[in-house]
Amino acid sequence: MDRLDGPARLMIVSDLDLTMVDHQDLENTSLLRFNALWEAYYRQDSLLVFSSGRSPGSYRRLWKKRPLLTPDVAIMSVGTEIMYGESMVRDEGWEQYLNWKWNREIVKEEAAKFPDLIPQSETAQRPHKVSFFVEKSKALEVMKPLQGILEKRGLDVKLVYSHSKALDILPKRAGKGEALAYLLRKLEVDGKVPVNTLVCGDSGNDAELFSIPKVYGVMVSNSQEELLQWHEQNAKHNPRIIHSPEKCAAGILQAIGNFCLGPNVSPRDIRDFQKCKVQGFSPEHEVVKFYLFYERWRRAEIEKSEQQRQNLQLMFFPLGTFVHPSGVQQSFDHCVDAMLRFHGDKKGQKYCIWVDRLSSAQIGSDAWLVKFHKWELSEGERRGCLTTVLLSSQEKAPDIFTWMHLHQTWLYGSEPEDQTTWLF
Ligand code: GLC
Ligand code: MG
Repeated sequence: MDRLDGPARLMIVSDLDLTMVDHQDLENTSLLRFNALWEAYYRQDSLLVFSSGRSPGSYRRLWKKRPLLTPDVAIMSVGTEIMYGESMVRDEGWEQYLNWKWNREIVKEEAAKFPDLIPQSETAQRPHKVSFFVEKSKALEVMKPLQGILEKRGLDVKLVYSHSKALDILPKRAGKGEALAYLLRKLEVDGKVPVNTLVCGDSGNDAELFSIPKVYGVMVSNSQEELLQWHEQNAKHNPRIIHSPEKCAAGILQAIGNFCLGPNVSPRDIRDFQKCKVQGFSPEHEVVKFYLFYERWRRAEIEKSEQQRQNLQLMFFPLGTFVHPSGVQQSFDHCVDAMLRFHGDKKGQKYCIWVDRLSSAQIGSDAWLVKFHKWELSEGERRGCLTTVLLSSQEKAPDIFTWMHLHQTWLYGSEPEDQTTWLF
């Protein structure tokens, strides 16, 4: 959260499963659209928060399979664990605060007396979260008496029902809403309350997010009955909350537009940048646009033509170099030749590219240093490179950038055995 000097222009607080991530869409279409929008227009001055029921380990497993961006804050295990930055530094103060009137052994002991409660796997059990499965028809029968029994034993707990099957028992002070309120208080102390906050969710454990004052909210089209019901009973007349007609991450994009929170046309929705003037050019947008081109090129969604070859040659400074992640230095001419050879090599395959953690700094009147993580997911294998690009803009046409220098280093053991198919 310290990444920004001032208040975030927009803070998005989103659930993961079936909000950010559409488990039915193996191509990750709407998630990739969101990613491109975020990195091109928001990463520099906004905050991304993931708020999930998953434990940190289960989040890591999802991260390996799906093109998830790096959030500024990860709120895990239904608002019981808060972690900051890429290295996921735990907020120990938060966990201390949750110890109040909480004892997980007592929760387990009392819950075991209800045969309808089936404990979830060990990995789902966390210091401040005890989780079960329970049939919808039995849920209410169990929740009320169990809450009373735990109160009698001196605890103050919260029971949250999600996906018509999962029951989480948490300390009263925990939950996705309480965790967000805590984050907002922290930001307030630093004078950095976001200009706008948008919360996004689909199921019961997300309901609390929508009760935080002043936030905008989107319940994605595929929201669960329990969330829609909560909304009907508690927030029906709040104009800041919508039930989007769009599914998962597409619903988030739609809500950004609906509430006029900033640009909401993803660069991925633009097929031809020559024909379609974009909302604003910037070094960040340039990088996102190039990698989109690169993905479409390798998937043969763009035709190989003499014009394209010339465009590529114009884009790269003739004397510039690319330091390949293997350490080998290549001339841009060599790279353009390689790119021409690799046209369509990923056609028909599950292949996508996205950039993450994009930041740029103007280092001269016409020069920018842009740094980001560039990821490729190819038939289930994920590889990434820390990438630095030196861009220069033309005085007469400031929206045209020349790529002067490009340097990559493998990220987190991404190095493949065969490095020859890695281009930029
Ligand atoms: C996630 C968690 C699970 C929890 C559910 C609802 O699926 O893994 O433990 O019960 O979210 O909050
Ligand atoms: Mg969900």
